[in-house]
Amino acid sequence: MSSALLSQLYPAHLATLQSRADAALARGGFDHLVIAAGQLHYPFLDDLPYPFQVNPHFKHWLPVTRAPGSWIVVTPGKRPMLIYLQPHDYWHVVPEVPAGYWVEHFDIVIVREAAQAAAHLPARADRCAILGEDGAAVGSYRPNNPQAVTDYLHYHRAWKTEYELAMMRVASHLGVRAHRAAEAAFRCGASEYAIHMAYLSAVRETEHELPYGNIIGLNEHGAVLHYMHFERNPPLVSHSLLIDAGASFHGYACDITRTYASQQAGEFQQLVDAVDRAQQEFCSQVRVGKSYPELHVQAHHVLAGILREQGFIRMSAESAVESGVSRAFFPHGLGHYIGLQVHDIGGFQASESGGVLPRPEGHPYLRLTRTIDAGQVMTIEPGIYFIDLLLAELKQTPQASDIRWDKVESFRKYGGVRIEDDVVCTAGEPENLTRDAFAALN
Ligand code: GLY
Ligand code: MN
Repeated sequence: MSSALLSQLYPAHLATLQSRADAALARGGFDHLVIAAGQLHYPFLDDLPYPFQVNPHFKHWLPVTRAPGSWIVVTPGKRPMLIYLQPHDYWHVVPEVPAGYWVEHFDIVIVREAAQAAAHLPARADRCAILGEDGAAVGSYRPNNPQAVTDYLHYHRAWKTEYELAMMRVASHLGVRAHRAAEAAFRCGASEYAIHMAYLSAVRETEHELPYGNIIGLNEHGAVLHYMHFERNPPLVSHSLLIDAGASFHGYACDITRTYASQQAGEFQQLVDAVDRAQQEFCSQVRVGKSYPELHVQAHHVLAGILREQGFIRMSAESAVESGVSRAFFPHGLGHYIGLQVHDIGGFQASESGGVLPRPEGHPYLRLTRTIDAGQVMTIEPGIYFIDLLLAELKQTPQASDIRWDKVESFRKYGGVRIEDDVVCTAGEPENLTRDAFAALN
């Protein structure tokens, strides 16, 4: 990513955020939007902090993710201000001197101690909408997170600017490069831990810089949806790999899952191929006006069809969905918004004034219930799994006699399949950030 492109795209991004901030402040009846980067957190009885996690509102404005104790102040009609904490500290690397394409757009004040920020914040704390965690407070500036303001900002977060899409394209390229390295390690018989190391080395990010903890499951571990154990030794035979791993760029995430069969012409590869085809079909439906929960329910029908075609169930796809059987094999949501957060906020919001769009009944893990629109980015991540706990429950239901248990049993050693891409809705064909990045590597 050239910094020339970023400096070209950044002013329009900033203008979008400023107009959203103006509207949010008007709704809440405040004069200033004040955003705390956040602070370090410590484990109980310890003096070594957890890795710093910046407030997503903060990194929305700036590609700055390592600046605890810093603040942004946005006042309608004025240049935004950054109050930047650069402590005198010889124990740690202090946040870098502000540099880059965004600096010229901010008034920047450097402070040396967290409490000094108060002197530069707007004079009347009561006129500020202050976004952040409680612990970020300095003096009378205590985060109040007014709901009218956050509702507006969280709702509009779903629409990405061109600058944000550029960031997410880079994150996708980084993640895909590392996925390729992980697959190569799997094909050489590596352990989960060694695959993880191959991933980290290729993505060139520390574990803490990744947008979420890597999920790397060989064989039956693929059935644990958020498996993060990293067996140090390889299994005697590696049948399959499910890898769900991302990358970050300037605070923006990608979220990518791939599933591999060790036998490239075997029965598990057939299942992977079927889910992959279905997944691409779902991706093609990321269109303006499409209801995401409807797409999720539609995915249940298609996946149930695969279960039937491949001989796991005897009943029709329709009755598998109606009776809940499909949920035993696909027990999570089809996907979620993504951007500054892997599960970007606002997925259930009814409008810019708040409200909740409920999940369809019986689908408690769906994370996105809104209608898709151009400029929004979401994951599409269908899966079919063989999860002991859910299969044991299924065995107790009247539908149990319509399940081909011998076939199900023979697939337990593969764990499951999940294929996940990050997809941008546009006015026309959707843009698949993940597949484009894979294609660019070939
Ligand atoms: N990739 C992890 C998740 O979406 O939950
Ligand atoms: Mn995901």
